[in-house]
Amino acid sequence: MSTYRALFASAALALPLALAASPADAQQTTLRIFVGGQQRPDVMRQILDVYQQRNPGTRVEIEIGGATSDQQQQYLNTVLTSRDAAIDVMLIDVIRPAQFAAAGWAEPLDAYLGAEKDAIMARYLPAYREANIVGGKVIALPYFADAQFLYYRTDLLEKYKLQPPKTWEELASTARTVMQGENNPNLRGFATAGAPIEGTVCTFLVPMWGAGGQFLGAQGKPDVNSAQARRALQLWTDLKAANVTPPNLAEVVTDRIRVDFQAGNLLYAMQWGYAWNRFQNDADSTVKGKTNVVPLPGFAGNQPATCIGGWQIAVSAYSRNKQAAVGLLRYLSSPEVSKMQAILASHLPVFAEVYQDADVLKVNPWFQFARNVVVTGRSRPVSPDYPEVSEIIRTNMNAFLAGTRTADQVIADMNSRLARVYR
Ligand code: GLC
Repeated sequence: MSTYRALFASAALALPLALAASPADAQQTTLRIFVGGQQRPDVMRQILDVYQQRNPGTRVEIEIGGATSDQQQQYLNTVLTSRDAAIDVMLIDVIRPAQFAAAGWAEPLDAYLGAEKDAIMARYLPAYREANIVGGKVIALPYFADAQFLYYRTDLLEKYKLQPPKTWEELASTARTVMQGENNPNLRGFATAGAPIEGTVCTFLVPMWGAGGQFLGAQGKPDVNSAQARRALQLWTDLKAANVTPPNLAEVVTDRIRVDFQAGNLLYAMQWGYAWNRFQNDADSTVKGKTNVVPLPGFAGNQPATCIGGWQIAVSAYSRNKQAAVGLLRYLSSPEVSKMQAILASHLPVFAEVYQDADVLKVNPWFQFARNVVVTGRSRPVSPDYPEVSEIIRTNMNAFLAGTRTADQVIADMNSRLARVYR
């Protein structure tokens, strides 16, 4: 709590100066930013209040929409295809810049950043610098980084004298031990995303990469007809057969995993960074002080893998306030805001140095190793046709997890449809 106060007290001190610098009749600019429900609009509001205090000529309104990455994008598709100027700035998932560049939806930032461009971009972690530069143009600036981790219940593992699992095999056996011992019908061993949503793409890719597989084959074309892809699918079959995963896995969306874990109904969860803060601070969390985070497990004898994620901020090509919008972007993608987000929302920093910050580590001790997980994490395929790539993977995975398609059917369908996208 004291860290929050210190952050915002320093912002409040800046207020009288900012007010004095601006003429009373200054022109008001109103910017509208589109944010998903999962990206902590409440924290964004606090961050924007500081900006408004420092820039009294600018008011920033938040528009909240979409509980999943896909729903957010559906909304933006409507706004942007109709060239609607109502949204000036938008958060976009790390998988989107290539699509936005191809569609002409994001205002390229190069001219606005001018001579500072290279120095600004050089400060971000390489994966985020690269994700936001498409065809040599800066399409967006990074807001926060992300990766999937394994969250676990420290109280339950301690009770059964177990260590957090390093392999999927250990995850399955320890989950069974705890579930049998607890004999609680509401308690499941492990959950990840299984609904036909973006997160479910990672439910396929993470164990496939972890088994040593690649998404693109030798010719740079997708090839998921591999032993490693089959091993990934088999992992989910085995966890389901052992009753470790919830029976409704094919309905589980990203934030549902958080809700179930904080209700005390999961031993392990494959989940993104934001959940930590919710587990520790939500009024209804039953797992505060009983939760820890480690890197995701791997298969014995292989390097574990994770999917990197994260959210970027773009200026709409249809905004009528582009100059002011870029000013806001520069603030939102600064180390100062990265630190605020880390403290207030456990959003992973896009700057290496913020992971080392003492105030940040105090509330997120696991950030000590999180930077390495992000830096060594894998990116989902980069493509202007990513929406199609994603749809092919997630609908197949969803059908597989629901038990309506076999591994052979899923692999054949993914391979033939992906080949058409990458023709
Ligand atoms: C998180 C990640 C994002 C990912 C999404 C999937 O929000 O940051 O990159 O696509 O989860 O659910």
